[in-house]
Amino acid sequence: MTNTPYNPGQEGAKMGFADAMSYGDYLHLDALLDQQHCKSDAHDEMLFIIQHQTSELWMKLALHELQAARDALQQGQTAEMFKMLARVSRIFEQLNSAWDVLRTMTPADYTRFREALGPSSGFQSHQYRLIEYVLGNRNPNMLRPHEHVPEVHALLADELARPSFYDEVNRYLYQTLDGHTDNMPELQLDAPHALNAEIQSRWLEVYQDIDSHWTLYEMAEKLVDLEDYFRRWRFNHVTTVERVIGFKRGTGGTSGVQYLRRMLSVELFPELWTLRGDL
Ligand code: HEM
Repeated sequence: MTNTPYNPGQEGAKMGFADAMSYGDYLHLDALLDQQHCKSDAHDEMLFIIQHQTSELWMKLALHELQAARDALQQGQTAEMFKMLARVSRIFEQLNSAWDVLRTMTPADYTRFREALGPSSGFQSHQYRLIEYVLGNRNPNMLRPHEHVPEVHALLADELARPSFYDEVNRYLYQTLDGHTDNMPELQLDAPHALNAEIQSRWLEVYQDIDSHWTLYEMAEKLVDLEDYFRRWRFNHVTTVERVIGFKRGTGGTSGVQYLRRMLSVELFPELWTLRGDL
């Protein structure tokens, strides 16, 4: 045995980066790792910041995939779309596992820096709101907290002005079943999608004859999968919140756990869930 330090340079590993792009250069790690500014001296504030920042990064990727999935669908590229949707489900799975790290923070730990958060809250996450808007949960009241940042407000308002991803899925349903979309119920862009009996009956046709409508069936199941993971995220969030702050009000000003429990009842793709009772 020798304790001479191994030199990976011997086998060709590049060891000098004075004139070449390094890992840190490519990922802009200097900027990324310089964005954790604790506002208190509480030990757990770093965990709180990194948990939120990493969640925002995953949300950024989820939006990238969802927007591309919608484009792929519009071009009839369903295989590509399914691949991206599967990735979004895995992203939510990743976010769901992340709660285990945050749950190591006790109410006493959180209390040490809660005041420092002021009125800031995940409630003002524009990426979360954009994900909801893209998927079809479109509450225009949620634009208000973004009025002070015109670019972000415009991003959300633009999304509200175009059909949601789920609208496009339903459009594809009618187009595939009928060869046109004349029978499709009129879209209401700036309101949360509500259960529509006609749309549900068209999806029921698909589920009652899977062999004839395999692509639509696969599409619907990918959406149910995605919503399943999304619901688990909401559930994990509200459980973590109850564990850390009980029934206190949120820093964002809502009733806290009661507000979040109300959000648990939101259904993104209600027809796909309700039709299951008819099978
Ligand atoms: C101990 C940790 C956490 C606590 C105590 C907490 C608390 C809350 C509360 C009380 C709300 C309701 C709005 C308000 O009045 O503030 C809320 C909303 C929200 N939080 Fe958290 N949260 C925590 C962690 C996180 C994490 C890690 C994320 C990830 C980004 C997150 C994202 C959100 C989002 C997106 C909303 C808006 C939900 C909606 O409007 O449906 N939260 N949070």
